[in-house]
Amino acid sequence: MLPTESKKALSFKRCIEDGDLVIVYERHDVMKPVKVTKDGVLQNRFGFYRHSDWIGKPLGTKVLSNKGKFVYLLAPTPELWTLVLSHRTQILYIADISFVVMYLEVVPGCVVLESGTGSGSLSTSLARAVAPTGHVYSFDFHEQRAVCAREDFEKTGISSLVTVEVRDIQGQGFPEKLSGLADSVFLDLPQPWLAVPSAAKMLKEDGVLCSFSPCIEQVQRTCEVLRSDFIEIRTFEVLLRTYEVKEMKVETGAMIGESHDEEDNGGQRPSKRKHISNDDGYAVSQDNSSSPTSVVMARPCSEARGHTGYLTFARLQCLS
Ligand SMILES: C[S@@+](CC[C@H](N)C(=O)[O-])C[C@H]1O[C@@H](n2cnc3c(N)ncnc32)[C@H](O)[C@@H]1O
Repeated sequence: MLPTESKKALSFKRCIEDGDLVIVYERHDVMKPVKVTKDGVLQNRFGFYRHSDWIGKPLGTKVLSNKGKFVYLLAPTPELWTLVLSHRTQILYIADISFVVMYLEVVPGCVVLESGTGSGSLSTSLARAVAPTGHVYSFDFHEQRAVCAREDFEKTGISSLVTVEVRDIQGQGFPEKLSGLADSVFLDLPQPWLAVPSAAKMLKEDGVLCSFSPCIEQVQRTCEVLRSDFIEIRTFEVLLRTYEVKEMKVETGAMIGESHDEEDNGGQRPSKRKHISNDDGYAVSQDNSSSPTSVVMARPCSEARGHTGYLTFARLQCLS
């Protein structure tokens, strides 16, 4: 459920009710979606938690297990849902999703067409962006995936904002009834170039199309077709680098390789914090005013996601 208080406003102040979906948050990398039921019990390595203790508490509440260990009960926002949803297909992740929503210019009231629906990862963010008056029409030719996506949209409270239809978009194109109504179209298909002529028909004047493809050969073929009806064709690859930041105790100055303080900072005044890097590639910030052995370290996460795909954007050429 998106935390909607009335049909118009998004709110995180809403209290948890029987039947709600919440994200149970242990750590940033340990979360799971749980449907709240008045007789339900959640068990994890910290003990057990009765759902009845959760009902009536606001989203964001910290709740204790029988052993006094806590988890947070969070609203299933698109950002969190993308991290916990069940993967029935490859999905779009936060970096690509953010870029798509921004460059497709998706705002409240927009009509957005999407194919394929896949696991509904992107659809969830599109739905929030068009709410409360817009709509997302999502198409997938795989019947079971469409059924699961509808169930998920029901659970997350966005079913009034997204319509899922079973349709072969590469073979049949988008339905005529949506012709000229779309502010934007998003394609995540194996042969997106086959759907481009139909996407052009669906778009309003100045409408924007985006196609996501993992391989550059798919991008080339799509761009060749885009050139007949679209302008401003641009392709991006979005790479996200996440940093691990840790406070650590360091035995001596022996492990410290380089120092960038007074002597090598161009004669600038020495700062209270010393910035150095150690042999493990961590950038180290040492606070001179407290214990000299306590340091804050930062380095890029080792399991950071690399290439996901290319995002090609294009704007429908106006005839007038
Ligand atoms: C990679 S998934 C989409 C993932 C989605 N963007 C997400 O974020 O969850 C691609 C989807 O396209 C669907 N698909 C493939 N060919 C199709 C076609 N011709 N028409 C409609 N859907 C198609 C597949 O069934 C699959 O579910």
